[in-house]
Amino acid sequence: MSTKKVTKIGVLTSGGDAPGMNAAIRAVVRTAIYHGIEVYGIVRGYNGMVEGDIFKMDSKSVANIIQRGGTILKTARSAAFFEPEGRQKAYDNLKKFGINGLVIIGGDGSFKGAQKFSNEFDIPCIGLPGTIDKDIAGSDFTIGFDTAVNTAVEAIDKIRDTADAHDRLFVVEVMGRDAGYIALHSGIATGAENILIPETKTDIEELIASLTEKEKRKKLVNLVVVAEGDELGGANEIGAIMKTRLPNADIRICILGHIQRGGAPSCLDRLIASRMGFHAVECLIEGRNNVMVGIVNNKVHYTPLDNAVKAKQKISQDWFKIVKILAS
Ligand code: F6P
Repeated sequence: MSTKKVTKIGVLTSGGDAPGMNAAIRAVVRTAIYHGIEVYGIVRGYNGMVEGDIFKMDSKSVANIIQRGGTILKTARSAAFFEPEGRQKAYDNLKKFGINGLVIIGGDGSFKGAQKFSNEFDIPCIGLPGTIDKDIAGSDFTIGFDTAVNTAVEAIDKIRDTADAHDRLFVVEVMGRDAGYIALHSGIATGAENILIPETKTDIEELIASLTEKEKRKKLVNLVVVAEGDELGGANEIGAIMKTRLPNADIRICILGHIQRGGAPSCLDRLIASRMGFHAVECLIEGRNNVMVGIVNNKVHYTPLDNAVKAKQKISQDWFKIVKILAS
């Protein structure tokens, strides 16, 4: 806890953009103004801090953005900020503007940077989990995940139509970096036969056996959803194995890619972003430091940034049972 009064807040988005980041920025700006605190937008993540690309925001700066994907503050993965000289420059720039509190909207890489920075300098940092990957402990949701999953579901439903028309087997790759949540959620929601994720060891023999069995009984549509981070590789690698092992199957590969990062945020993402942004400012007013604002069991939950980064969310075994039974 810090006893210093926060009078000027800086807000930035960092790492991969995620739908709902704008809603979070809006919430931070408007809550701060409500409390009589000045707010500054920092452009292109930590790069803007290092380079002094910082501007004052008012209520109007965040008008008409709650429904927009991307981030009005732009984002980047900053190499400079990971160097001590970069962080010193960033601190000097914050001092110039009189900024004495930060809200960082981003993923675990962004939190690592915040943690380092606030240990070195006397600036309280509050993190908001903004990533489509949902790979952060301490929150049931991350800003952007719900929209990304819905985008993937919409795309996979369309793939199902054409797969059905041609009796084809599709291997669809979704994002998630080292996490399989987008694959798991979108795979179950689209009735995929198999879902391959990095959290479990992919048994290729079992996969081939199950697809061979489905081929024999002429199951019409076969969808395999693979997370980009699966230990056996993405759709290209898995598809190549399948083409050799299932010579009679008509196999196509589809990599959904960055469409999962764009688009208007879902209602859930707008809602959690608004709640988290509001509480981030309250946290700074209360003197909290180095915590991430999450939502657990529909209640606001604070996790030390350190724990949010180190611990990963755990995937319950129940999910796999559900996939196996429902996709038969
Ligand atoms: O972390 C978000 C994410 O979209 C991951 O799912 C993906 O692996 C990565 O970012 C892609 O990063 P880039 O936009 O740099 O290609």
